[in-house]
Amino acid sequence: MADIQIHDKIFTSYISAERIKQRVTDIAGKINTDYAGKKPLVIGILNGSFIFAADLIRALTIEVEISFVKLASYQGVSSTGSVDTLISLKEDIGGRDIIIVEDIVDSGQTMSAFLPEVYQRKPASVKIATFLDKPSARKYAIKTNYAAFEIENTFVVGCGLDYNGLGRNLPDLYILKP
Ligand code: IMP
Ligand code: MG
Repeated sequence: MADIQIHDKIFTSYISAERIKQRVTDIAGKINTDYAGKKPLVIGILNGSFIFAADLIRALTIEVEISFVKLASYQGVSSTGSVDTLISLKEDIGGRDIIIVEDIVDSGQTMSAFLPEVYQRKPASVKIATFLDKPSARKYAIKTNYAAFEIENTFVVGCGLDYNGLGRNLPDLYILKP
């Protein structure tokens, strides 16, 4: 696969769509087992998670509901340091099993802002399923429960992740060229 340019930056291919599909199937298998007989509510974090969320729930065989919230913390290739809620949670999640679905857990700031809001509504359980986990970039103590890939601390695009609005539609994952 060739390098691609998005805005002013060059990206090179990192993880293929085929490998991604494999890992999503693995994770869905774990969730099917862990939630057998339950009916979790998946909460996707927009915008980034929409592709992973769509792929993941189509690989689930348990009964599942899905909803979305829209949170934003990122500008360009670094975090802005604050989390804005653009679309908030409308469902009654009291007593529900919640699976939060993220595109990537990076500093952990988004999750550390959102989790208290979720717990405040007294769900039965809360787990985090993320397409990508960047543990070495963590500034907040957030642990993920299901991660398709652990990646190094660099900037990636594709599969829902963007660089200033572009690149979300790429089926493969690309990494910023040094
Ligand atoms: P956190 O709050 O620092 O964990 O980062 C959360 C959000 O930042 C993610 O949901 C992404 O939207 C965005 N983000 C973090 N790392 C990347 C990246 O490498 N590429 C694109 N977006 C990213
Ligand atoms: Mg984002």
